[in-house]
Amino acid sequence: MANFCNVDGRIVPETEAVVPVLDRGFLFGDSIYEVIRTRHGSLFAWREHLDRLRDSAKGIGMALSLDDTEILRRILATMQTAANREHYVRIVVTRGDGTAPSIDLRTATGRERWIVFARALPPAPTDVRLQIIGRLRNDRRALDPAVKSGNYLNNVLGLAEAQQAGATDCLFLNTQGFLTEASTSNLFVVRRDEWITPPLHAGILAGVTRALLLKWLRDHGERATERDLSRDDVLSADAVFTSSTLRDVAPVSHVDGHCVGNATTLDFVRRLGSDFTAHCDRRAAEHDGPDALALAAP
Ligand SMILES: Cc1ncc(COP(=O)(O)O)c(C=O)c1O
Repeated sequence: MANFCNVDGRIVPETEAVVPVLDRGFLFGDSIYEVIRTRHGSLFAWREHLDRLRDSAKGIGMALSLDDTEILRRILATMQTAANREHYVRIVVTRGDGTAPSIDLRTATGRERWIVFARALPPAPTDVRLQIIGRLRNDRRALDPAVKSGNYLNNVLGLAEAQQAGATDCLFLNTQGFLTEASTSNLFVVRRDEWITPPLHAGILAGVTRALLLKWLRDHGERATERDLSRDDVLSADAVFTSSTLRDVAPVSHVDGHCVGNATTLDFVRRLGSDFTAHCDRRAAEHDGPDALALAAP
């Protein structure tokens, strides 16, 4: 089945979608993005994702000319063309074209470019093996990792470095030597009766799944904490997992080649993942689908 893509309101097969060579996203990674998924056709947590898109735009000083209604219209129109059972939706907003291949913001023409991909939802990993790598997650004082920008080369190379070491994903440290996150997901550990994830100030993306998970755990009376984590903390944890839109909860079996947890704790994380997924499916059906359709209605 063909993948479809919406470029500035025009839906075309993905293979025919193009951006000009003077696009600043292409030239400099001068862009932001979001990934949203559907659950039984509903656009899950779209408000949270669009809010984060606006935060990312603010983080790089980019004005967004589309309101939520128009963004939803474009997403839903692209999804309808793509006709997948469940959709992976990627929204990319670049700072648009420049008048020259120059980093100078004064050469930007001032009109952003909006691209929406709709593809079939990929399967989530069932066993994650993490490798702590030497490369640092960009420090908050550089490009804030809370900005979901098109500047993903650090993560691209981090993932490649971990794969070369035989792992399936990387785990970044920050300048203080604490753990931050994996290449495209947040980190959680379970120790005794406590669920711990690195705080936002460690230099991470404020994951939508991470926030939903923290709330869901707390609503169930669990002790869920945001605090700095060291390598020793993950190696001695009862269980480790990652969270993201595309995977919900993915159990981690190894860190730096060492087993973390055991068969029982891995099973526990898988059960937790199924319960959390069921919670998200219910939330999507109750809030996200009907609301998105109503807002985007002509
Ligand atoms: C670096 C990074 N951290 C965490 C996440 C997880 O965020 P979310 O739960 O919003 O998908 C992502 C998702 O793409 C990511 O790229």
